[in-house]
Amino acid sequence: MSKQRIGILGGTFDPVHNGHLCIGLSVLDSGYFDRLLVLPSGQPPHKSCGAPAEDRWKMVVAACASDERLTPCRLEIDRSGRIYTYDTLTELIRQFPEAELFYVIGADTLMQLRSWYRAEEVLPLCTFLVCPRQDGLKPEEYASELRRLVSMGGRFRSVAMNPVPVSSTAVRTALASGKIPEDLPVPVQEYCRCKGLYGLSGRLDGIDTWIDQLFAALKPGRFAHSLSVALTASKLAAIHGVDPLRAEQAGLLHDCAKYYSMKEMRRIAAEHALTDDPAFLESGALLHSLVGAQVAQDKYGMNDPAVLEAIRYHNTGCAGMSRLAMCVCLADSIEPLRRSYPSLDKVRALSEKSLERALLLSLEVTARYVVSRGKYLHPRTKNTIRWLRSLTESK
Ligand SMILES: [Fe+2]
Ligand SMILES: [Fe+2]
Repeated sequence: MSKQRIGILGGTFDPVHNGHLCIGLSVLDSGYFDRLLVLPSGQPPHKSCGAPAEDRWKMVVAACASDERLTPCRLEIDRSGRIYTYDTLTELIRQFPEAELFYVIGADTLMQLRSWYRAEEVLPLCTFLVCPRQDGLKPEEYASELRRLVSMGGRFRSVAMNPVPVSSTAVRTALASGKIPEDLPVPVQEYCRCKGLYGLSGRLDGIDTWIDQLFAALKPGRFAHSLSVALTASKLAAIHGVDPLRAEQAGLLHDCAKYYSMKEMRRIAAEHALTDDPAFLESGALLHSLVGAQVAQDKYGMNDPAVLEAIRYHNTGCAGMSRLAMCVCLADSIEPLRRSYPSLDKVRALSEKSLERALLLSLEVTARYVVSRGKYLHPRTKNTIRWLRSLTESK
């Protein structure tokens, strides 16, 4: 069996941004290893963080959901006291005794490597992959330091990449001035916004509990999707004169029951007389929306009927649905993390002009796909399509 090869990308990730993801994916593409552990630090030795460790962790998990080769790792966050690379590497060697380790650093970090805690012992523990980050770094000084480290037993490889020019400091400065930078992955943009991190205003009521519950209840990809739907729904709402706050709330909660077992969903449906439609009671894809509205009420304390309606109809739509519900249903199908489907670009372009037309096209595409696969298309979706057609034809 070939030796397991593991990459390590450490940092405060305060917050994780597209520059980190670009480095992570570039080193993965370099072929030195097959998976990359992403390790946010708990309390770093020399600086304080803008966001609590658990928030930085959840943002890293959401951001890493975009590529299965990125593996968030709690090793440094869970360690108490001061945290050093030496401790991290020795612990990883204990956990993966057969693995070859590759530690990802920037060229600027290489210049400080000799001052690291137990540097001479750190050097032989791994191969360092050095990313170009040479602002103000003199090539001859870099080359001389590299020679010195190699003579001490260090192994180094440089990785070619076009790094995304973004720094956490610049991101935090933008957030503190109320701007949400595009340099943040979409779920991280929404995470910072709904929690009011880094000085952003607009923090949602009760959001800490919501985020903790959603994070526990959803798989990472679904957690990221929910944040992305919230941001997209709120933007659609702002464009179309709907309440963005309600759209954001409904977006966050819309899939809260997605991973409930069928047994549990049927129990909740029966207890609250949500439906007696056999098609709903046989399909998690259908039932999670009705149950989700109930769970949002019971477990998340959401009592706004408009928000609950948007959750209830987010998958099938409903003839006569509100424009708020349209924003959420449409956001679910066009949020930026959505895997591409025919006409997605067209639906996205339409969504800025007409909620009704964009939702109609999105549902028509879904209906065609479902029918072409010989699957069952629920009459509620057919009714929504008919209703939207009548609306758009009469305009
Ligand atoms: Fe859903
Ligand atoms: Fe969804």
